Parts: sequence; C-alpha cells; structure tokens
Amino acid sequence: MPNITPEPQAVCNPISRSAIFIVATLARGEGKADVVRAWCGDVAALVRAVGTRAPAANLSCVCGFSAGAWDLLFGAPRPASLHPFREFGAGDRRAIATPGDILLHIRADHMDLCFELAAQMLDKLGDAVTVVDEVHGFRYFDLRDMVGFVDGTENPSGKSAARYTIVDEEDPEFAGGSYVIVQKYLHNLDAWNGLSVEQQELIIGREKLSDVELDESIKPSCSHSSLTTIEEDGKEVKILRHNMAFGRPGAKEFGTYFIGYARTPAPIEQMMENMFVGKPPGNYDRLLDYSRAVTGGLFFVPSADLLDELPDRKPDIASSDIGDNPAADNREGTLNIGSLKGTSQDE
Ligand code: HEM
Repeated sequence: MPNITPEPQAVCNPISRSAIFIVATLARGEGKADVVRAWCGDVAALVRAVGTRAPAANLSCVCGFSAGAWDLLFGAPRPASLHPFREFGAGDRRAIATPGDILLHIRADHMDLCFELAAQMLDKLGDAVTVVDEVHGFRYFDLRDMVGFVDGTENPSGKSAARYTIVDEEDPEFAGGSYVIVQKYLHNLDAWNGLSVEQQELIIGREKLSDVELDESIKPSCSHSSLTTIEEDGKEVKILRHNMAFGRPGAKEFGTYFIGYARTPAPIEQMMENMFVGKPPGNYDRLLDYSRAVTGGLFFVPSADLLDELPDRKPDIASSDIGDNPAADNREGTLNIGSLKGTSQDE
C-alpha cells in the first residue's frame, strides 16, 4: 500500500455550468498509438495554458481509457476492475454499449473555455483518434437537467466524494485512479411534459420545485431515487454524478448526458441493473419510459501522476502500433467491436 495516494485527476471538482463530453476511438496505423501516449503527457499543460487565462471559471479535464484501449496503448497490468461496458435490459429499455476508447470530460463555468480546451486537445491528437460522440452540455437554471429536476443533490462532497470515487489500497498500482460510466440519454419531452408535476415527482422521487425528497410513505419503490439508492453490507454506496442537459430544439433533440464516477464500476452497474431490469425484475425505472440510452461506455481514469507517466508505458509486445498489432483485432471493450462484446446480465 503506497504511503501517499497519487494526485487524482479533477474527478471531484465541483459542479460546473458547462461541459463538453468527447468520446473517441483509436485510429489504426503506424505511429498512432505513440501520438496518443505522448498526448497523455501534454494534458495537464494544456489545461493550465487555457485555464490560467480565466481562473474563476474553474476549467478542468478528466481523461479516461476503455479496457481495450488500455491493453493496446499501455499493456499489462490493467486496472483491476476495468472491463468492457456491461449491457442491461431488453427490447426498447436497454443500456447499450457503443464504441469508445478515450473519454474527455471537460468542465468549466464558461463554455468558451471548454470549447478552447477541446479544440486544443483534439488538435494534439490529430488523426490518431476519431471522435465518435461530442456533446456540449449546460445546466438549466438552478442546476436542473433536461427533465426539469435539480440533478446532483445527493452527490457526496468533500472527503466523502474522494472516498467513494478514488481507488486506494484495493489496487495499489492504480491508486488515485477512478472509474467512470457515461450514457447519453434522449428524452421524449412531449410525453414527459404531458405528465402532471405530481406524476413526474413520483417517477423521480423528489419534489420538482423544492427538490425535497418525497416521504418514504408515498415514494414508489420504482422511483429513480429508490432504485439508485444501493447498499453494501448495510451501508449506502454513493457515486459522483456530473450530468448535464444538452439538445438542439430545432431538431427536437432533448437530452441528459449521464456521467457517474466510482471507485469500482460495480455500484454504477448495480444502479443500471435496478433501473433497466428492475428491482425486483419488472419493477423498473419509469424515467426510462420517457428516456432512451443511445450510448454507453466504461473508462478507467488514471491518477494525474500516472497520466503524466503514460507516455513511457508501452505494451510489451513487439509492435504497439494500432493496425500492426494482432491484439488490436481481438481487443475487448472498445470501439469497433464494443457494442458486440458487452455482456448482457439479465438474459
Ligand atoms: C435520463 C437520465 C437520468 C436523469 C434525467 C437523472 C436524474 C436524476 C435526478 C433529477 C435525481 C435527483 C436529484 C439528485 O440527487 O441528483 C437523480 C438522482 C440520482 N441518480 Fe439519476 N438520472 C439519470 C440517470 C441515472 C443513471 C443512469 C444513474 C446510475 C446508473 C443515476 C444515478 C442516480 C443516483 C445515485 C441518484 C441519487 C439517489 C439518491 O441518493 O436519492 N441516474 N437522478
């Protein structure tokens, strides 16, 4: 067990007003992996270069890698709990896995800073990656999400946020790291807004205007709040969420970008299973009657110290270039084959 936990990335930074979420796949070809590895060592300097110009805006960036990308870029050992995104649910109500090797979670109180940093990061990565999803998120009024409820209230804060999200002695080599799951949800807002406020409150489990939790005597066991409150050995296990609203009214697109950090993927997976399959099965989250997950990815976020050292960490195999590497075609949990590889747990 290390005496001092390495410095984490900005996982526990406070809620921001703006964010950009970028999911990219690794490109194939000679030298591409070297570009990505070298970029890992530039991340902190890029955040400083953009953020120092407007310190009050609290610019930060968290970078994560899928299981397949980790193996390909950095080789063994792999972080203990890193695996391909697990799919849950059936039919229309399904948490699906979609391609994605690298996640960038850029946050600030002003979108111009997020935008500038995203542009600089992608410029450095060049054609070594292909962006497969890019979402520009915002907070609605008093920190509400697209369904109109305050989002993030029950997040752990301070030391407790770090305790729930930062890896420690359970995986000493990766201490200071974290796991993150993202899902992009699209809402049928016409149908959602067709419900009465009381019906919406029963689905979420909180009052809409005041954000106060509904009394246990009236809160349904299928409410979002009930299904995402989980316990292990009699103790509540929390995750840290930084969800954001996004959309394009002209295209009738209204969404919530879910992003959840935890010390292992297990609690987030348990919450997804409760939401999509139901607890007990069938007692599912009615928010999903109005919201559809169109992406899904699981990433490991190395500590800031490890991120800085990753340029020197190459896999042991002879050629580490994507495309030249036979492992590339068989790698799990990534991109090109990610959606076929997620293990469905409920069927
Ligand atoms: C359509 C997507 C989603 C929306 C609009 C949404 C919205 C909300 C809202 C409004 C709350 C209540 C306030 C709060 O404590 O933040 C909440 C709570 C919560 N959500 Fe979600 N959420 C979504 C997806 C998810 C997913 C996929 C997970 C986990 C896999 C999740 C986990 C949680 C947790 C842990 C809480 C706190 C529960 C409590 O302690 O009462 N949410 N969410």
